[in-house]
Amino acid sequence: MSDHDVDDIAFLTGSPNESGFMVNKRAMYEPGAVMVCSQKRACCVVTLSFVAIIAVALIVAFTKPGCPEATYTGEPIPGLSSRPTNSPPPTVPTATNGEEFPWADVRLPFHVRPLFYDILIHPNITKRHVRGNLTIKLTAIEETRAIIIHGHQLKISNYTLHNKYGSQIHIEKFLEYPPHQQLYLGLSEILRRGSNYTLRVGFEGKLKEGLEGFYLSSYITAEGEKRYIATTHFEPTSARAAFPCFDEPHLKAKFRLKIYREPSQFTLFNMPLKSSVQVPNSELMIDEFQESKDMSTYLVAFIVCDYDKVTNFTDNKVAVSVYAPPTMISQANYALRMATHILEFYESFFGVAYPLPKQDLIAIPDFGAGAMENWGLITYRETALMYDPVHTSSQAQQRVAVVIAHELAHQWFGNLVTMSWWSDLWLNEGFASFMESLGTNDAEPGWVMQEQFLVEKMHPALALDALVASHPISTPVTDPAQIESIFDTISYNKGASIISMLEYFLGRDLLKEGLRLYLEAHEYGNAETDDLWDALTKITKKHGHFLDIKGIMDTWTLQAGFPLISVTLQDGHVTASQARFLVCEENVTDPNEPLNITMGYKWHVPLTYSTSLSPNKSEIYWMNLTDIEFLVPREVEWIKFNVGQRGFYRVTYDDAGWNALINVLLTNHEVLLPADRASLIDDAFTLVKAGTINATVALKLSLYLSNETRYIPWHTALRHLFSWVDLLFNYPAHKNMLEFISTLINPQYERIGWNDTGHHLERLLRSKLLMAAVNCGNVNAIREAQRQFSAWRSKNEAVPPNIRSVVYNTGVRYGTEEDWRHCWHVYNSSTIPSEKRLMLEAMAQTRDPWLMQQYLEYTLDSSKIRPQDVMTVLKEVSRNPGGRVSAWRMVRQHWPQISQLFGHGSFTIGAIIKAVTSPFTSSFDLGEVESFFDGVDIGPGERALAQALETIRLHIQWHQHNLDDVTQWLDMYLSKDTTGNHES
Ligand code: BES
Ligand code: ZN
Repeated sequence: MSDHDVDDIAFLTGSPNESGFMVNKRAMYEPGAVMVCSQKRACCVVTLSFVAIIAVALIVAFTKPGCPEATYTGEPIPGLSSRPTNSPPPTVPTATNGEEFPWADVRLPFHVRPLFYDILIHPNITKRHVRGNLTIKLTAIEETRAIIIHGHQLKISNYTLHNKYGSQIHIEKFLEYPPHQQLYLGLSEILRRGSNYTLRVGFEGKLKEGLEGFYLSSYITAEGEKRYIATTHFEPTSARAAFPCFDEPHLKAKFRLKIYREPSQFTLFNMPLKSSVQVPNSELMIDEFQESKDMSTYLVAFIVCDYDKVTNFTDNKVAVSVYAPPTMISQANYALRMATHILEFYESFFGVAYPLPKQDLIAIPDFGAGAMENWGLITYRETALMYDPVHTSSQAQQRVAVVIAHELAHQWFGNLVTMSWWSDLWLNEGFASFMESLGTNDAEPGWVMQEQFLVEKMHPALALDALVASHPISTPVTDPAQIESIFDTISYNKGASIISMLEYFLGRDLLKEGLRLYLEAHEYGNAETDDLWDALTKITKKHGHFLDIKGIMDTWTLQAGFPLISVTLQDGHVTASQARFLVCEENVTDPNEPLNITMGYKWHVPLTYSTSLSPNKSEIYWMNLTDIEFLVPREVEWIKFNVGQRGFYRVTYDDAGWNALINVLLTNHEVLLPADRASLIDDAFTLVKAGTINATVALKLSLYLSNETRYIPWHTALRHLFSWVDLLFNYPAHKNMLEFISTLINPQYERIGWNDTGHHLERLLRSKLLMAAVNCGNVNAIREAQRQFSAWRSKNEAVPPNIRSVVYNTGVRYGTEEDWRHCWHVYNSSTIPSEKRLMLEAMAQTRDPWLMQQYLEYTLDSSKIRPQDVMTVLKEVSRNPGGRVSAWRMVRQHWPQISQLFGHGSFTIGAIIKAVTSPFTSSFDLGEVESFFDGVDIGPGERALAQALETIRLHIQWHQHNLDDVTQWLDMYLSKDTTGNHES
């Protein structure tokens, strides 16, 4: 997930007996079922378990002959012995020298594990080359005559193995198998179970510009000189590209680093510096660092640079430092303040002290993700760390705080306790995404982060998870491309949303206590999803509650999707039924459905509601895989379900139910919380998309917005309303839709004005409303934005931070080629990352086809647009109706180059496909996208493509269901007097 996702973030293995387990589960979860399985099912369980055991035995048997001495009878590592059911049968792997490579699995065998790495590394920035020496202390879990280790694009110059007495064990055979990024060392003698050995490896590699592994980045000094820094990004599988290692998250070890540097530079590592010595007869220095704690390879980081820093100490004397290029260090203070505050907050929230002596945060000019939580040395995109009070908008400021809070949460969730295997990635990312709101909220209490959670996390997750092409939170993954592909909205946002739901029904105190138990039980080790449920169950029991946490949560983590709850209310009698909500009607089979073994797409739903009689009170009923009925007083006029939208489900009402709620909104909307208003908007518009309710419900509901003053409902509504504008782009109703939105926003536009004042949410809202006014063609708004743009351009008059995006975007959209070139100049010369980001967006607004084309071509030239920013440009250009077709054409035309740049295990490729295809709305477009990608290997982008295609189908479906209704309703509504009351 990366920074360009600012405004729309963001981006299981079975054991041999898993099938049996799953069948059991199904029996347990079927409506009305008790927790025993029928005879037929029991047979099924036994048969499936048996088939699974045979299958695994075959796989092992297959891989064994080439590696006869390796024993595979030890404790299975979670996920190791299983494969996704749809993975191809193993083929005989051939090593680079043409010999058979004796290990066929992309996962490492479990007969040895590392204890300790001693790394000496010499990066030569001028020669773009790295030389290294590595000593790994390892232990044999089982007898074996082979060691298999990861290495990617490294030249191995020498290797030796010694036993604990110092005697050498001859390495008879050395093989490389690049498709699995594995090295094989065949030994002359058997390693004894329980004994320790020392493996020494000399290696060489390239040090090039890039975004993964150990790579070069650069910045320009105040004097205009280009300076290089060498930095790392390993998650998920790139540590192996920097040094040979056992690159799987459960293979934790301690790390020690020595690294060469020029005297003018300094170096950073996960741990503090221990000593620096000069290399004899050389200018060079060698820095040596303290030994790390037990940690996973993907969290290792080291950096060579010549930055400046600012430092602070927490109450517990942890040194917190922010590093940035000298030209930017003045923008580092906000990050320092936030990081110190949030680190202290987490120590008290988790009840576990931060385990390292220091925490560094560093801005990297070329950075693929938004930030990376390397233990003690967090790396950031510049925009995610730098804040300038004069220049940076509230939205970008919030991004800084949130990213810091997210990465710091990982220091516990992810770093101290790590998922055993990537299929539980959500434990890392879902948790950090949940905690980021809490951390930010503690540091910035005025920002109402809990409310913002809806639009930042819950709504995007519900939107994606309503596609057939979604996937369960816990998903089997094995190879790097699959692993990369689950860094997505499901792991992050759905993960965070279900934790938020859990918090709602457990209460924060119990959640906290459970988390503490979980962290303490697994510190410096690994855990699986069930370990978390175990800890929480223990705590709930301790407090006398008997909630089946695992039973409840499995329905949310093991199945894709979520339920739509359909409710009716008649004379005080409420019925509520649940069924999986799929937004696209077209019946495509779910590629992720594991052999039809599911929980039948039923959930444990904490169904909450408030009513007209007690609008401030929330009642709860559990729908335990079933539908329910209950009574409320007959006098209840309206009932709103999913209070505060804390539950991960949608709700639909009968006509009377919707009308009653619309009536509350139109007469006294503040009876409902802003979150409830937002949830009604989000549900209504989505249900229209799905064809579940009539478009007029959403349109009538929107009418109350002219009185809405809060950010969250507006954020939700504008996203939906403008998606309708896009869907109507080539239709006569397009103009009416814009006019309709104008009637809704105008009262608020007049109220909020152009002065960048008020509290945080007010500023966020202003920025959105002003842009919406311009997008609706409001002449006054366009004129004001243009005025400020030309004052900025010609007189260098600064625009207030939260007005900048609308001013810059409008200035370029209605401006000249010179205006565009001015932005290009600012993009290239500014030292303010938030300003550069705005320029990238503004330049995409041009209506000049030639400038647009040129801008798109710049994305293929890394000296013009940094690869980290290509995604932003493509996305912003695709959002511009005049740029859509060119962006798609460009991506097709240069596909080989684009996939070369982003296709190697990078999650960007999927995001690019989505960005350029998501505006499409016709069957013709659909056919074009399908035929272009037919037969193209897009690696980690596979699922994103399926989602993109389903999104286009959804757009087509929207037209079929809603075009006539929307067109007629708008005609009718707008033909009435727009100043007075409308008949709706
Ligand atoms: N662990 C991720 C970084 C990452 C992302 C590594 C994708 C490999 C692939 C990090 O903690 C993260 O989630 N960063 C987010 C920012 C966060 C605030 C959502 C990002 O990069 O966008
Ligand atoms: Zn994360």
